[in-house]
Amino acid sequence: MNKIGIIGAMEIEVETLKSHMQITNTLERASMTFLEGSLQGIPTVIVRSGIGKVNAGICVQILADIFQATHIINTGVAGSLNAAIDIGDIVVSTDTLYHDVDATGFGYPLGEIPQLGTLTFTADAEMIARARTSCETVNPDIKVFEGRIVSGDQFISDPQVKDTILANFPGSCCTEMEGAAIAHASWLNHIPFVIIRAISDKADDSAHMDYPAFEKAAAEHSARLVEHMVQHL
Ligand code: ADE
Repeated sequence: MNKIGIIGAMEIEVETLKSHMQITNTLERASMTFLEGSLQGIPTVIVRSGIGKVNAGICVQILADIFQATHIINTGVAGSLNAAIDIGDIVVSTDTLYHDVDATGFGYPLGEIPQLGTLTFTADAEMIARARTSCETVNPDIKVFEGRIVSGDQFISDPQVKDTILANFPGSCCTEMEGAAIAHASWLNHIPFVIIRAISDKADDSAHMDYPAFEKAAAEHSARLVEHMVQHL
C-alpha cells in the first residue's frame, strides 16, 4: 500500500495540508513533528522539515526508516531562474542538483558530490506526469513548467549570484534550499520522488520585497496541487 511522505520546509508550505488531514498518529523525531494519517483518504505523513539541505535529508531518512514512505513529495516555494517563469507559476522537477557543491579541485564537475556517481537526481516520471495533470485540474489558470530545480544553502537575492548559478547550470528553472537534498536522500533509499515549487520571487534584487508578498499565495498553489495529486498515485 502507498504511503506518501509530504515535506515542506516551512510551516506556511504545509499548514493547509495539515488542516485537511485526518491525523491518527504524531511522532517527534529530530525536532520535527511527523503527522501520520490520511489526506483525501490516502495514507500520508506530513512534516515540516525546517529550512536547508541537512534538515531536508534527515527528514527523508526518517520518512524512509520509521514510516516506510513509498513516495516523497516536496511542496513549497522557489525563486525563478527563468524570465518566462513568473511569480505564482509552478515548477515540477525533472531533476535536481546542488548549485553550491564544489569539488572541482578534486576533479569532479561543479555540483557533484565526490564518489556518489551522479551529478543530478532524476524525479519519478509518473509522479511528474501526475503533478502536471493535477495542476491543470486544480490550478487551470496557473502555468506549469517541468525542468531542473537547483538547491543550495543560500537564499538567492543578488542578480550576480543568480547569473553565476545560471552560467554554471544553464536552463535551470528555479532555485530553493531543500529540493536536491530531498531528491538525494530519496535516491539513496530508492524512493520515487518529485519536487513541486511555486514561484515566490525572481531570485534577484527584488526577492527581498517579492518573497514576503507572494510567499503565502505561492505556497498555497503548490499545496493545492499536492492534495489533488496524492489521490492519483
Ligand atoms: N525560496 C524561495 N525563494 C528563494 C530564493 N530566492 N532563493 C532560495 N530559496 C528560495
